[in-house]
Amino acid sequence: MSRLFFALWPDELTRGALAAAAARVDVREGRRVRAADLHLTLAFLGNVPGAAQAALMTAEPAPRAAAFTLEVGLAGWWRSSRVAWLAPLEEPLALHALHAAVSDAAAAAGLAIERRTYRPHVTIARQVRRSPRGLEAFAVRWQVTDFALVESLQGAAAGRYEVRRRWALADRAGN
Ligand code: 2AM
Repeated sequence: MSRLFFALWPDELTRGALAAAAARVDVREGRRVRAADLHLTLAFLGNVPGAAQAALMTAEPAPRAAAFTLEVGLAGWWRSSRVAWLAPLEEPLALHALHAAVSDAAAAAGLAIERRTYRPHVTIARQVRRSPRGLEAFAVRWQVTDFALVESLQGAAAGRYEVRRRWALADRAGN
């Protein structure tokens, strides 16, 4: 069993920009997410048996999905999950299409995933019980050219992530 999720995994440049934006949010308390771990979840799969993982690793979850750009410019906080986050100013249709495609791929691999409202966000801190301060304007342009299947490590490495596979998105021009 592995704990898996599909995610947008930023390249180094975008990661640095997201980390810089995250650092400007005064979360006051809680545990910040390391820069190396910043990501935007597409679909959380939970504990996945080996056979289903093998099926996902060889699948083409979104063969027709095209590259897109996210303008990350919102920062906020959810009381219920106690996470502080960054989020895109607008949610492109392509992002929601990709979320739907990977969710369908998970279902096709036999996984029962929750189909609740998709709220794209990059978690920047956990266990935050009060609204962060310093949510001033910022802008990070994230050119999304691929997506990933990621494992949430357990045991001694708990809290860390490992990208297991990446899939390229189609060039917009060549679409
Ligand atoms: P979060 O950052 O909002 O907590 C790996 O844990 C990723 O999967 C995180 O981005 C996390 O979202 C998300 N995740 C964890 N548990 C989840 C759940 N039960 N439903 C949806 N997403 C979840």
